[in-house]
Amino acid sequence: MTHPSIDVLLSETRNFPPSEDFKAKANSRDASVYETAARDPEKFWEKWAKELKWDNPWKTTLDWKPPHAQWFKEGKLNACVNCVDRHVLDEKGGEHARSKKKALIWEGEPGDTRTLTYGDLYREVNRFANVLKKIGLQKGDRVAVYMPMTPEAVIACLACARLGLVHSVVFGGFSAESLRDRINDAEARALITADFGWRRGKRIELKKAADEALQGTASIEKVIVYRRDEKEPVCTMKSGRDLWWHEEMQKAAEFTAPVSCHAEDMLFTLYTSGTTGKPKGIVHTTGGYLTGVYATTKWVFDMRDEDVYWCTADIGWITGHSYVIYGPLSNGATVFIYEGSPDWPEKDRFWRLIEKYKVTIFYTAPTAIRAFMKWGTDWVKRCDLSSLRLLGSVGEPINPEAWIWYQEQIGGSRCPVVDTWWQTETGAIMVTPLPGLTTTKPGSATRAFPGIAAEILNEEGQIVKAGGGFMAITKPWPSMLRTIFNDDARYQQTYWSKWQGRFYFAGDGAHRDEEGYFWFMGRVDDVMNVAGHRIGTMEVESALVDHPSVAEAAVVGKPHDIKGQALVAFVTVKEGVATSAALAEVLKQHAAKKIGAIAKPDDIIFTADLPKTRSGKIMRRLLRDIAEGKALGDTTTLADAAVVESLKQKYAGTEE
Ligand code: WT7
Repeated sequence: MTHPSIDVLLSETRNFPPSEDFKAKANSRDASVYETAARDPEKFWEKWAKELKWDNPWKTTLDWKPPHAQWFKEGKLNACVNCVDRHVLDEKGGEHARSKKKALIWEGEPGDTRTLTYGDLYREVNRFANVLKKIGLQKGDRVAVYMPMTPEAVIACLACARLGLVHSVVFGGFSAESLRDRINDAEARALITADFGWRRGKRIELKKAADEALQGTASIEKVIVYRRDEKEPVCTMKSGRDLWWHEEMQKAAEFTAPVSCHAEDMLFTLYTSGTTGKPKGIVHTTGGYLTGVYATTKWVFDMRDEDVYWCTADIGWITGHSYVIYGPLSNGATVFIYEGSPDWPEKDRFWRLIEKYKVTIFYTAPTAIRAFMKWGTDWVKRCDLSSLRLLGSVGEPINPEAWIWYQEQIGGSRCPVVDTWWQTETGAIMVTPLPGLTTTKPGSATRAFPGIAAEILNEEGQIVKAGGGFMAITKPWPSMLRTIFNDDARYQQTYWSKWQGRFYFAGDGAHRDEEGYFWFMGRVDDVMNVAGHRIGTMEVESALVDHPSVAEAAVVGKPHDIKGQALVAFVTVKEGVATSAALAEVLKQHAAKKIGAIAKPDDIIFTADLPKTRSGKIMRRLLRDIAEGKALGDTTTLADAAVVESLKQKYAGTEE
């Protein structure tokens, strides 16, 4: 674990109770809900599920055969209908008042803009679903999505949901090879992509990467290509395989009937990094997932009709799935989406957008907040941020200093801050303040959402009431992952083996204070968190070893002021290969090319040997200590203790 110590966290002692004004209007105002939900979580969740639109009711709220849960299992519904149709058509088939309400407000990085009402979104999604249907896709088929942040990325996912197709979104920053691996694992039949997207004034050539990926994907039959800008020169299209989005849309029928899905039908799979092997396809199903994201959006973000909500996550991550698409749209909210990065063309881009669109709810990651802090408050002060009424944080632990800065400088000391802990696997927010109820403490994600049984457990699986241990969820919850795509054994092993199938092991270390508040301390496994993005040590190691000069590699995370963690790679080269700064650079680029920019190590340390235990296991803790420049711990199990000394000296030489 690399993280601030609990003493540092607790040294910030200010508390922030909700203001009287916020409390009076909040969607969640009754503190007794924690107790009633804990007493009967199924009843609590059932009440939320009933707020969705179902085609058929369920009989069994929860069928729990550890570690497999089925929620609302006889029920049938469609996720797209819940996010779109329901706001456009009333119960009798007439026009719903929300049909003219803005669903998506979009701004591209170069400044192009578009607004879609719920009515517009309905028309686009229906047409695009028809495009997907016409190419022969059927319920249960997987569809890969590799898109820039545009309304079409959202439309693509919702159109899949409308037909019961399983979307598998791959972040546009991932490499061709990462895309290929994910397509192959999911055996996707179609790919939805774009010719390019914008990032810091540069074109990200998505179609080019897709073409490279598709050289090794037997399952892909059709590729639909969205044209990002009609004025820009186009990409190459492969005849018989590639179709232009805009051409197919012109030919498509206006209406496509939604497919009624079982609550436990797969809604999507999303790949995420683990301790071992390649990224795994986390499986989320329809009824429980939608219930979880709907409920948490309403209560955690206090979502109401007049809000303009902005979650800065890309839809390539779970935050984009749950809190750009399914949570807010099932609530009928107005969602703002932005394509580019916060420092383009200037470092005030986000604040200008908040001012321009009068954003009321803003949800971002600590890594961004720390960058904003570094850039200075002048960028912020120039803009009118008075529309904001609530701020959220997600993705990694937020240090108290960043929390306070966010609350004061962005929130004008007026907005509650919700630090939300959850994971790709949990589907929805698990630990969070409720803004009208919870007194917040900077650096703490506070309490479990009502109906969520979150605990800290020790090695033996006993509850730690106050103190440190492993984060665990002790009862099933509706939006939990159901399995790993095509690998249920890995699902059981990764999440349920630590305590013999009794509790869900999250992989995080956490601390609980005397009041029961949770303080997250970072991962306890070989998963790293770089700028809020999850990456496994093994993945980066495999990418490095793939280079012809490399014999062996070990990757660890070291603390980083802005990114939270940065990657440090210890590399031994093959016989006869000369090490140099140039080779280090080549290896960094190699990792970025193989996986994506997030996998690029900050430092490469060449070493003649890696410290190993007598049984041959790489001593990562030791490497972490060296990377952090800490005093060395116990090295008695080290086969060749001299290795450590030489490693330490080498590392000292590379520090700025
Ligand atoms: C890991 C999950 C689901 C949000 C995006 C990341 C870390 C996430 C917090 C938080 C401390 C956090 C954990 C977790 N994490 N939110 N508020 N405080 N840590 O999803 O890629 O699945 O990563 O992100 O370590 O296990 P993810």
